[in-house]
Amino acid sequence: MAVLVTGGAGYIGSHTCVQLLEAGYDVVVLDNLSNSKQEALDRVNSISGKRFEFIKGDILDIDLLDRVFTDYTIDSVIHFAGLKAVGESVAKPLLYYHNNVAGSITLFEAMQKHNVKNIVFSSSATVYGISDRMPIGEDAALGPINPYGRTKYMIEEILRDIYASDNGWNVILLRYFNPVGAHPSGLIGEDPNGIPNNLMPYISQVAVGKLKDVNIFGDDYPTPDGTGIRDYIHVMDLADGHLKALEKLKDSPGAVVYNLGTGKGTSVFEMIDAFYRASGREIPYRVTSRRPGDAAECYADPSKAAKELGWAARRGIFEMCRDSWNWQSQNPEGYTE
Ligand code: NAD
Ligand code: WQD
Repeated sequence: MAVLVTGGAGYIGSHTCVQLLEAGYDVVVLDNLSNSKQEALDRVNSISGKRFEFIKGDILDIDLLDRVFTDYTIDSVIHFAGLKAVGESVAKPLLYYHNNVAGSITLFEAMQKHNVKNIVFSSSATVYGISDRMPIGEDAALGPINPYGRTKYMIEEILRDIYASDNGWNVILLRYFNPVGAHPSGLIGEDPNGIPNNLMPYISQVAVGKLKDVNIFGDDYPTPDGTGIRDYIHVMDLADGHLKALEKLKDSPGAVVYNLGTGKGTSVFEMIDAFYRASGREIPYRVTSRRPGDAAECYADPSKAAKELGWAARRGIFEMCRDSWNWQSQNPEGYTE
């Protein structure tokens, strides 16, 4: 019995594959490499010392999915595959709805046809939109404010409807907060294309000398130091959450949602300072205007995952910065194949 990991060559997928393989799971990765490199999977293989199957292909390809579910004995799916850049989703909404929503529907149709009804889906705290209640519990109102966020919300709804129509399904929706960090080996990590959109890869690239300074998007928020507060979570803790979710699928949980965050907020200034302490590198910055759509603060109430999955984040901001720096300094150009 194997776990099908869609998007397994990506940032979170590659870290999760390492932990799945180390825990003894058989793994089949399906990824079209649209936002990742085969080299990440070669490194997953070297870290874990385990072999696994890789199929280069698209979740929109129904014939390919049919073959995958025929050729391998899959009993559950972890579904990471998707596009994730908020700004790009505003510029190219159809690309996002097609790839993420139509792609997920195609995957779920293939699962239904082959009677594979266990799924862990990568959702996002972005489905909450701008919430005025902190920390954010799973029962908070949903209201994504950009096309990317709406794809996540729609896929959640589709999975809830599938479960309502057939209680034989088991669906776990994981809403990640802000994933950062890297495997402690420094062999795999986040490798964004072009100039990073997100804070941690941006800071890392300034630290390594690829970018000049960090633009801080506003210091006039109603937060203690004026900069935005987020719930950063180490990607190794996140990967561990997926293993806990897979175990939970065995208890026939129905369709359930969990926040994966630490419950602690960190400001942009605090993150820059922590990165300086972890790397020893000066991080020049300048304060610019706010980025449209950014909330002042966003952090999780992760107590449901603690209670029901037996999962809690163990790594703090220093480890997140140390491991991001370890990856970035060993791989200044990212994967180089
Ligand atoms: P990533 O881009 O590194 O990984 C996604 C992978 O999916 C890539 O390897 C890409 O090549 C693949 N992919 C995309 N479309 C595909 C398709 N049609 N068919 C096959 N493969 C396809 O992103 P990530 O950071 O690892 O995120 C993984 C998942 O978690 C995504 O669904 C993302 O939306 C979600 N998520 C990410 C974050 C974050 O900040 N990184 C936060 C919340 C949720
Ligand atoms: C964090 C903080 C910025 C960059 C995004 C997506 C979300 C989810 C996670 C997938 C904010 C500030 C940032 C910079 C800055 N992804 N910042 N300078 O916006 O919380 O979440 O990634 O689901 O959907 O929106 O993360 O890292 O971009 O920003 O000052 O160059 O850093 O204003 O306060 P965000 P981020």
